Amino acid sequence: MHPKKEVAWEVVELVDNAKREVASEAAMMVNDGEILGLGTGSTAHYFIQKLGNRIKNEEIEIMGIPTSYQSFFLARDCGIPLTTLDEHLPDLAVDGADEVDPDLNLIKGGGAAHTLEKIVDSAAKKFLVIVDESKKVKKLGDFPVPLEVIPSAYRPVTELVKKMGGLPSLRMAQMKDGPVITDNNNFVVDVQFKEILDPQELEIQLNNIPGVLENGIFPGIADQVLVATSDGVESIKKP
Ligand code: 5RP
Repeated sequence: MHPKKEVAWEVVELVDNAKREVASEAAMMVNDGEILGLGTGSTAHYFIQKLGNRIKNEEIEIMGIPTSYQSFFLARDCGIPLTTLDEHLPDLAVDGADEVDPDLNLIKGGGAAHTLEKIVDSAAKKFLVIVDESKKVKKLGDFPVPLEVIPSAYRPVTELVKKMGGLPSLRMAQMKDGPVITDNNNFVVDVQFKEILDPQELEIQLNNIPGVLENGIFPGIADQVLVATSDGVESIKKP
């Protein structure tokens, strides 16, 4: 099962409008000539579309570095010229998140793209996160921490994670029998912890498990978070 929560249709529509609003605001923060990290997920999807509109309407020159096949195909369809980390480092990366705490630590990976997202978002001079209000939490950990796991390491990884107090669950695909396979041909194991006391420390411990390629905790990487609220868009900057 995908870890994202099931919610009522009216709520989905409200959240969708919030995502569009925050994505528009982020697209207006992009400057002519910038190299952009293009996040993954539904909020990043709206950002990429808005960016494509700005390129068409204002003739600004932007190049994008996608964080997944999803953002690669969408950016191409929206007319955004693409480049790679080999050629350019991003001036700005814009990406969604599954949870954001008051210190701007994040959980990401609801779309199983957290490995490349962490690479691109960390490489950017500035990392801007765009979310709706439901993603703001006092403490990380309601959302399980996604691990990208090399398939042959699945069993030992889950055993070690259990010893750390986590409850691992192999993410299953929805339009395919069997597990989700990431863009890098790996599994995703979602790990529910009772509580996450120290996101920095847990991120290091999880990445130290042999066979874990990357985990979805993004500790202290975000520079600014835009949150769509019922009163407009709130901006929270890293202290
Ligand atoms: C993908 C991600 C997404 O950014 C995260 O799941 C948020 O998605 P959405 O904007 O659809 O709520 O980390 O791996």
